[in-house]
Amino acid sequence: MVFYFTATGNCLYIAKELDSTTVSIPKVKLGGTFEDDKIGIVSPVYGGELPNIVLNFIKASTFKTPYLYLILTYGHDATDSAEFTYNLCKSLGKEFNYVNNLLMVDNYLPNFDIEKEKAIDKKIPEQLAQIKADIESRKEYIPTASKQAKTGHKMFRAASKLMPALIDGSALQMTDKCIGCTLCTKVCPIGNIVMENGKAKRVNKKCEFCLACIHACPNNAIALKREKNPNARFLNENININEIINSNNQEG
Ligand SMILES: Cc1cc2nc3c(=O)[nH]c(=O)nc-3n(C[C@H](O)[C@H](O)[C@H](O)COP(=O)(O)O)c2cc1C
Repeated sequence: MVFYFTATGNCLYIAKELDSTTVSIPKVKLGGTFEDDKIGIVSPVYGGELPNIVLNFIKASTFKTPYLYLILTYGHDATDSAEFTYNLCKSLGKEFNYVNNLLMVDNYLPNFDIEKEKAIDKKIPEQLAQIKADIESRKEYIPTASKQAKTGHKMFRAASKLMPALIDGSALQMTDKCIGCTLCTKVCPIGNIVMENGKAKRVNKKCEFCLACIHACPNNAIALKREKNPNARFLNENININEIINSNNQEG
């Protein structure tokens, strides 16, 4: 079985390629005891680390398996996320046999123009083929981070402390362009968007800052204060919006 967290489909696509049994982390976020001959987790890198929802799931879970692996998708700079996450999880009593990064489209709108991102050949099939072969052969592998990668991670950390609005929900602007379609309420992995008088509204400041709501909005009605290209939005080409809804919907 493979667990995944996704905002724009990259991790779901990879999870589906790696195993026929896929489980969305927002659906099992309270954790549990899971048993299989191999168990995987596919997660995006956020600021060189795991998203909170993924880390909390790992903390709350017991994995009974001879082979535990972690694939971290990222868009430009994974920094030392693989080694850092391996060590963090080991300290929590969850030791991965295999950790690897996988370069994909970067969905972080403050820094990247999705149209330019889509035009870059990130050699995804080649990376995926290698990872599949590694997992098939039960390879044991934890990458060692360079000094530069560790410094990059520290810089991300410092920047997010200086600019909290870049990583919490206060950067999300629900604008009058909202047509009340409710998609954002269904793709939010923590159920923190509701409809009020036919318009989308955040319940409180809580936010994974996954940007699922922004990318899914069909009318570009949700925006960030700072974006590289406010008109560009992303959904992995192999995934449809219903799959994001089925992964993240907290309603009902
Ligand atoms: C809040 C946030 C932080 C991110 N931080 C990083 C990062 O530190 N390094 C990086 O290369 N990509 C970063 N990304 C890009 C994502 O990791 C990448 O696009 C990922 O494949 C998205 O997966 P998804 O489509 O399954 O949501 C970040 C994206 C978001 C939304």
